[in-house]
Amino acid sequence: MKYNSSIIIKGIGTYQPKKVLTNADLAKMVDTSDEWIVTRTGIQERRIAEDNETTSLMGVQAAKVALERAQISKDEIDLLIVATLSPDMIFPATACLIQQQLGLRKIPCFDLQAACTGFIYALEVASKMMQAGNYKNTLIVGSEKMSSVLNWHDRSTCVLFGDGAGAVVLSKIDTPNVGIIDSILASDGSQAEILCQPAGGSACPPTLESIQEGKHFLKMNGREIFKYAVRLMEQVSLQILEKNQLSPQDIDIVIPHQANIRIINALASRLNIPMEKFIINLSQVGNTSAASIPLALNEAFEQNKLHKNKYILLVAFGGGLTWGASLLKWF
Ligand code: ACO
Repeated sequence: MKYNSSIIIKGIGTYQPKKVLTNADLAKMVDTSDEWIVTRTGIQERRIAEDNETTSLMGVQAAKVALERAQISKDEIDLLIVATLSPDMIFPATACLIQQQLGLRKIPCFDLQAACTGFIYALEVASKMMQAGNYKNTLIVGSEKMSSVLNWHDRSTCVLFGDGAGAVVLSKIDTPNVGIIDSILASDGSQAEILCQPAGGSACPPTLESIQEGKHFLKMNGREIFKYAVRLMEQVSLQILEKNQLSPQDIDIVIPHQANIRIINALASRLNIPMEKFIINLSQVGNTSAASIPLALNEAFEQNKLHKNKYILLVAFGGGLTWGASLLKWF
């Protein structure tokens, strides 16, 4: 659909806990090594939230920076979407808690759960709501306290993830064909069990047994996820390029979900896009799920890589399975 207006990213902000957990620290906790983690994943360290650094608190801090950089007051925000798989509570929505802490008006606030693809899902939902409705400025927050759902005795998962938050302010402007140009979202619930948190929800409410069996921790079939990740991110990237009559060479910057450097290397070679065009920060932050793309986008912003009219491809995959891509023309 063609619009006379566009939805642009007006400001970006992030928050990372101060506490750093290195691979050497992890090697003291489980049977692993810096060498294994670096060669299999590319991750060197990650940030871990303190008890009082909740998903909402991290989201609030990131949002404050995004609002300031956008030069938009909190009273001008008329929609808030929070992408997270580690909400403060199952309900109410973490978005309502962030609304309260930021002092936003009585606007619609809701959580969106699409695991690591959450930020891309939120961009699509927000931009379509803004084009169709009366929302001029939207706040999107991707915030995760992954450390709260990890089994710190399971070396196959605890080395992969980190905590943090990223936020963007979206604004509607009268110029057409810039900002968020297009998005493609997809999911496949038949593979739900290869990456999930089995207990704690209504299917398996927490009991002494479920906790003793560790069912409230994140479970993952890493090898299966790896294969899906490469294939689906390649597929959706090519789909969005073709749909917008672009070739991989037209893309100036790729911001992939930061799960594993080997997944990103494989994606780059399948798309035939040089690694120099990829923004990579996973060595310092690990996999921060829904915060991953905005944290990497902020990296590109701070490295002064986001210039007017540059084409930027965001691409992610995660539990669900979910996957998706967004094409941006920077404004
Ligand atoms: N340290 C040392 N050895 C380990 C560790 C560790 N931390 N973890 C696993 N191993 C061992 C395994 O036990 C196995 O040993 P074995 O051969 O004796 O059985 C060996 O290392 C190889 O294990 P693999 O699982 O085959 O290792 P692989 O090369 O596949 O790497 C990894 C594992 C890093 C998890 C990889 O499969 C991966 O990155 N998958 C994708 C994961 C991912 O992206 N998840 C996030 C999805 S996003 C979201 O929605 C949250």
